[in-house]
Amino acid sequence: MSVVLVLLLGVSSGVSADPLETLMNKFEEGKYSKKGADGCIMCHKKSETVMAIFDGVHGQLNSKSPMSGLQCEACHGPKGKHRGKNEPMVTFGEQSPLTSEMQNSVCTACHNDTTHMAWNTSLHAEQDVSCVGCHDVHVAKDPVLVKDLEVAVCSECHISAKADMNKRSSHPLKWGEMTCSSCHNPHGSMNESALNEIDVNQTCFECHAEKRGPFLWEHAPVMENCANCHNAHGSVNDALLNSRVPMLCKQCHADDGHAGTAPSGNSSIQTGGQGCLNCHGKIHGSNHPSGKAFQF
Ligand code: HEC
Ligand code: HEC
Ligand code: HEC
Ligand code: HEC
Ligand code: HEC
Ligand code: HEC
Ligand code: HEC
Ligand code: HEC
Ligand code: HEC
Ligand code: HEC
Repeated sequence: MSVVLVLLLGVSSGVSADPLETLMNKFEEGKYSKKGADGCIMCHKKSETVMAIFDGVHGQLNSKSPMSGLQCEACHGPKGKHRGKNEPMVTFGEQSPLTSEMQNSVCTACHNDTTHMAWNTSLHAEQDVSCVGCHDVHVAKDPVLVKDLEVAVCSECHISAKADMNKRSSHPLKWGEMTCSSCHNPHGSMNESALNEIDVNQTCFECHAEKRGPFLWEHAPVMENCANCHNAHGSVNDALLNSRVPMLCKQCHADDGHAGTAPSGNSSIQTGGQGCLNCHGKIHGSNHPSGKAFQF
C-alpha cells in the first residue's frame, strides 16, 4: 500500500477540500480497521457484487492475497470513520474522484512483477486507461481472462477493430478461437502497436510459420511487412487483403512492361478476377528453381 500512499500524498497540495483530502488524511493517519472484512461485510453483505469477491482469486486466503493482509482495505484504503457517505473510501472506475494512475497504483502495489514492466510506457497507461477498465475483481471469474469474452471487453473501446472483425474476411475472433491478445500485449510491449513480437511479421509467423521462408525467390513486400497487403483485423476482401487483386498488385506494379513479357497478352491479365494469381500463385515466395516470377 505504500505506493498508494505516496501517490495520494503526492497530489495533496494541488487539491482543495472534498473527498480526496479526507481520503488522504485517512492514509496519513493510517486508520485501518482491526476487524478486517467482517467490519465491512456487516453493512455491505446485501450487495451480491461485493460478496462475489470471495468467489474470485482476491477473496481466497493465500500468502499474497489481500485477504491475508489488510483485506478489503488493501484496495479500498483505511476505513477510518467510514460508515457510508460520511467518509469516502478508495473507489475505482470512471466515477472515482481518483485519477487512473492513482487507482492503478493500488493494483501495481501487488502486481509489480516483470510481466507488467511495460505497463508504464504503454499507450493504455498514457491514455489513462485503468486496470479496472479491463479487469473486474468482484466476480468469480474476470471476463477479460476468459477466452470467449476477452474480445467483447476490448471492443467496448475499440470500435473500429470490432467493425473489422465482422467483415467478410477476418481472424476467428468472433468464436473465441483467437483473442486480441493472440497478437497484442494488453499491458503494453516494447513493440509497435503493443504487438507480442518484435514486429508485424514475427507476430504473424507465430501461427503462419510457413510464410517465414527462407525462399529461393523472395517477394520483397512480404519480407518487409505482411501489412503491405493484409489487414490483420479484417477486410471486405478475401484473405484479409487490403484491396482486391489485381488492384493490390498494381499499387506497386505498373501495367506497362508486363504486357510484353506475359505469354497470353494484355487483356486476360487486366480483366481476370484472380488474374495475376492464376500465374503468380506463389505470391509469398517460391523455392522452385525457375520460380523467379512466383509461378511455381
Ligand atoms: C483486489 C482489490 C479489491 C478488494 C480486495 C476489494 N475490492 Fe471492492 N472494489 C474493487 C474494485 C476494483 C471495485 C470497482 C468495481 C469492480 O471492479 O468490480 C470495487 C467496488 C466495491 C464497491 C462498490 C461497488 C458496488 O457494486 O457496490 C464496494 C461497496 C466494495 N468494493 C466493497 C468491498 C468490500 C466490502 C471488500 C472486502 C470484502 C472489498 N470491496 C474488497 C477492488 C477491491
Ligand atoms: C456502517 C455501515 C458501513 C460499514 C461498516 C462500511 N460501509 Fe462502506 N458504505 C456504506 C454505505 C451506506 C455506503 C454508501 C452506499 C452507496 O452510496 O450506495 C458505503 C460506500 C462504500 C464504498 C463506495 C461505493 C461507491 O459506489 O462509491 C466502498 C468502496 C465501501 N463502502 C467500502 C467499504 C469497506 C472496504 C468497508 C470496510 C473497511 C466498509 N465499506 C464499511 C456503509 C458501510
Ligand atoms: C494485496 C495484494 C493485491 C492487490 C492490492 C491486488 N491484487 Fe490482484 N491478485 C493478487 C493475488 C495474490 C492474486 C492471485 C494470483 C497471483 O498469485 O498472482 C491476484 C490475481 C489477480 C489477477 C488474475 C486473476 C485470475 O483469475 O487469475 C488479476 C487480473 C488481478 N489480480 C488484478 C488486480 C487488479 C485490477 C487490482 C486492483 C484493483 C488488484 N489485482 C489488486 C493480489 C493483489
Ligand atoms: C487493455 C486491457 C487491460 C488492462 C488495461 C489491464 N489488463 Fe491485465 N490483463 C488483460 C488481459 C487480456 C489479460 C490476459 C492476458 C493473457 O492471457 O495473455 C490480463 C492479465 C492480467 C493478470 C494475470 C496474468 C498476469 O499477466 O500476471 C494480472 C495479474 C493483470 N492482468 C493485472 C493488471 C494490472 C495490475 C493492470 C493495471 C496496471 C492491468 N492488468 C491492466 C487486460 C488488461
Ligand atoms: C492477427 C493479429 C491481430 C489480432 C488478432 C488483433 N490485432 Fe490489432 N493489430 C495487429 C497488427 C499487425 C497491427 C499493426 C498494424 C500496422 O502496423 O499496420 C494492429 C494494430 C492495432 C491497433 C493500433 C492501430 C490501429 O489499427 O487501430 C489497435 C488499437 C489494435 N490493433 C487493437 C486490436 C483489438 C482491440 C483486437 C481485438 C478485437 C486486435 N487488435 C486484434 C494485429 C492483430
Ligand atoms: C477503457 C477503454 C479501453 C479498453 C477496454 C481497451 N482499450 Fe486498448 N486502447 C484504449 C485507448 C484510449 C488507446 C489509445 C488510443 C487508441 O489507439 O485508440 C488504446 C490503444 C490500444 C492499442 C494500441 C497500442 C499502441 O501502442 O499503439 C492496442 C493494441 C490496444 N489498445 C489493444 C487493446 C486490447 C487487446 C484490449 C482488450 C484486452 C483493449 N485494448 C481494451 C482504450 C481501451
Ligand atoms: C494466434 C495465431 C495467429 C496469428 C498470430 C496470426 N494468425 Fe492469421 N490466421 C490464424 C487462424 C487460426 C486463421 C484461420 C485459418 C483457417 O481458417 O484455416 C488465420 C487466417 C489468416 C488469413 C486467411 C484469412 C482468410 O479469410 O482466408 C490470413 C491472410 C492471415 N491469417 C494473415 C495473418 C497475418 C498477416 C498475421 C500477422 C499480422 C496473422 N495472420 C497472425 C491464426 C493466426
Ligand atoms: C504482396 C502482397 C502480400 C503480402 C506482402 C503478404 N501476402 Fe499473404 N496473401 C496475399 C494474397 C494475394 C493472398 C491470397 C492468395 C490466394 O487467394 O491464393 C494471400 C493469402 C495469405 C494467407 C491465406 C492463404 C495461405 O496462403 O495460407 C495467409 C495465411 C497469408 N497470406 C499470410 C501472410 C503473411 C504471414 C504475410 C507476411 C509474412 C503475408 N501473407 C504477406 C498477398 C500478400
Ligand atoms: C507493396 C508493393 C507490392 C505489392 C502490393 C506487390 N508487389 Fe510484387 N514486387 C514488389 C517489389 C518491390 C518486387 C521486387 C521488384 C524487383 O526486385 O525489381 C516485386 C516483385 C514481384 C515479382 C517478380 C519480379 C521479378 O523480379 O521477376 C512478381 C511476379 C510480382 N512482384 C508479382 C506481384 C503480384 C502478382 C502482386 C499482387 C498479388 C504483387 N506483386 C504485389 C512490390 C509489390
Ligand atoms: C497468364 C499468366 C500471367 C498473368 C495472368 C500475369 N502474369 Fe505476370 N508474368 C507472367 C510470366 C510468365 C512472367 C515472367 C516473364 C519472364 O520470365 O520474363 C511474368 C512476370 C511478371 C512480373 C515481373 C516483371 C515483368 O514485368 O517482367 C511482374 C511484376 C508481374 N508479372 C506482375 C503481374 C501482375 C501484377 C499481374 C496481374 C495484373 C500479372 N503479372 C498477371 C505471367 C502472368
